[in-house]
This record gives sequence, structure tokens and C-alpha cells, in this order.
Amino acid sequence: MTFLTSEMLKHTLVALIWALLILPNTLGVAQGQLRVGFYSKTCPTAESIVHKVVQKAVADSPRNAAILLRLQFHDCFVEGCDGSILIENDADGELKAQGNLGVQGFDIIESAKAQLENLCPGVVSCADIVALAARDAVSLVKGPFYDVPTGRRDGRLSRMSLAENLPDVDDSIHVLKSKFRAKGLSDKDLVLLSGGAHTIGLTACFFMQHRLYNFTPGGGSDPAINPRFLPQLKAHCPLNGDVNVRIPLDWATQNVFDVHILRNIRDGTAVIASDARLNDDEKTRQILDSYISSDSSGTRSSFNGDFAKAMVKMGNIGVKSGSQGEIRRVCSAVN
Ligand code: HEM
Repeated sequence: MTFLTSEMLKHTLVALIWALLILPNTLGVAQGQLRVGFYSKTCPTAESIVHKVVQKAVADSPRNAAILLRLQFHDCFVEGCDGSILIENDADGELKAQGNLGVQGFDIIESAKAQLENLCPGVVSCADIVALAARDAVSLVKGPFYDVPTGRRDGRLSRMSLAENLPDVDDSIHVLKSKFRAKGLSDKDLVLLSGGAHTIGLTACFFMQHRLYNFTPGGGSDPAINPRFLPQLKAHCPLNGDVNVRIPLDWATQNVFDVHILRNIRDGTAVIASDARLNDDEKTRQILDSYISSDSSGTRSSFNGDFAKAMVKMGNIGVKSGSQGEIRRVCSAVN
């Protein structure tokens, strides 16, 4: 029989702790968790390659910043942030769902993926490229630059029915709150992510029809629209006009990430109904105010800082890591 001396026991314990803490990291195992710099050893230039691709896309057209930011939301809210929105399958695919109408940016993600596959084949997931691209897009239009934890793996499932519960532009504030809560996101996250993200980009008049001409209850226009703003909206999106015409979500500064959108929401000049609904509820109104004006002690919440935190939180929804999912070879199809 062998007895362990206390010194031997100490060494064994240290070795065990080392194996548990250090080894999985060196093997790149995420243990169900994401971490900043996941590719630092396996594909050190991953983040800079994504950045260059996004930089070029935004230089070609500033609209691409909004397109890439929206893409991450639509990825994360269906089956988690697993790149499933990128899968092009048959008519039953997630992408074909009504709630995903107008989602774009696939070519930009695919171009980054192609470069990364050349350099480090089978390493960087499409889901991570989506998250990194959204961050880079935000920072390129004067928004915050934040660390993005990586290590997501790509999902293999894309079904239209799975996208049924996406937040809808005509949802009430109660429904919007509960759809965000169902994803582990707070009322503050709702304000920052849905209202805040609409500081850039456009909406098709298609999404304005109900709000301008057939609002429930009462018919006619949404009474929350500032009466001085209503004629402008109607002129841009006339009844029976072309529903594909696109108008800015943040009337004043559509290509700059700034807090202006939250002021618009407070003064009745929000463009889409779901943004205006943030003004319907005491709690979300207070959250809006905390970014617009200082409180009695003279402090004002940081829109940029809190938006970045909310994006990281959204980027954690239902992630697949470790041995789950796969690393797709191309983003548009499962392996
Ligand atoms: C309550 C939840 C939300 C609703 C109902 C909603 C709805 C919409 C609608 C209807 C559009 C116009 C789409 C088009 O015409 O193509 C839009 C655009 C956009 N959304 Fe949201 N959204 C929500 C949350 C979010 C979140 C969480 C983000 C990102 C964090 C986001 C980012 C964007 C961006 C950047 C655009 C502009 C896209 C472009 O210019 O192509 N949205 N959203």
C-alpha cells in the first residue's frame, strides 16, 4: 500500500488544478463560455481580418454599418447566436420568415469567412464573424469599440417556424418586454438595443403602413407621432405608395451612432412603432431619460458604454460552444 505524504498531496493537487484550469484553454475548449481573444493562438489575425473587411464595406457604403448591426440581432434571437440566419436552404429556412424581411449583409460575412478559411481553415465560426462585424460596424460610425468574447460555434438548424417569435414592429411594449426577457435581456437592454441600435440605418415604408394609416386602436395614425412630424412621414411613405422606399430610422443623424435616437423617441419623432412604444411605459421612459438628461446628482448614464454592454449580453444568447455545433466551411451552408 502506498501512502501520500502531505508534500506529494500538495503537488498532486496543484497538478490537478493546473489541468482543470489551464489545459482546456490551451486546447481552445470554451467550456460553455465565450472569452475575449479566443482565436489569439489558433488564428491570431482573425479579428483584424474581419475588421478590414468591414472597414472596406462601410467605406463603400455607410449603410453597411446598420446592415451588419441588424444582422447580429436577427442571428441571436433565433436559435441563439449561431450563424443560423446565414444558412441559405429551401423555402422553409429561417431567412424566409416574415420577421427577417430586409435582413442583409451576408456577402460581407462570407467574404471575411473566405479569407479566414484560406488562412486558418476550420477555425473561425460564422457566428463569431457576425458578432465581430457588428462591433466593428458600430465603431466605424462613431459608436463604442468593445471587446467581443468569442468561441461561438455554428448551428446546423435553420427553420422558418423557429423565427416566428421575433419581436415585431407592431408589438405592444408589454410584448416587446416579454420577448426580450425570454432571451435573458432586461428592459434596459430592450431600450438600448432596439431603440439605441436604430440610431443608424433605414426602414422600408412597408413597416410604416400600419402605424401611419391603420393604427390599432382607432384606425388612422399612431397618436404617439408628434403632429409636426406626421406630415413628413406621410409624405415619404404615402398611402398606397411604394412600400420598398426606405427612410432613416433616426431622422437627424442616420449614419452616425449617437444618442439622438433616444431623444427622438421621447419627443414623438421616432420613425418605427416599436421605438415609439418605448415611450409608453413608465420604466422604459425612465431608462430613456437616464441617457438624455442628468439626474438630481448631475449624472447621466453613458449611452455608448451601456450599449456596448448590452451588445455583449445579446451576443451571449444561446451560444453553442465546446463540442456543440460545428465550424462551417462556408457561412451559407452547413458542412
Ligand atoms: C424590438 C425589437 C426590434 C424591432 C421590432 C425592430 C424592427 C426593425 C425594423 C422594422 C427595421 C427596418 C427593416 C427594413 O426595412 O429592412 C429595423 C432596422 C434596423 N434594426 Fe431593428 N428592430 C428591433 C431590434 C433591433 C436590435 C436589437 C438591433 C441591433 C442590436 C436592431 C438594429 C437595426 C438596424 C441597425 C436597422 C437598420 C437596418 C438597415 O438600415 O438596413 N434592431 N429594425
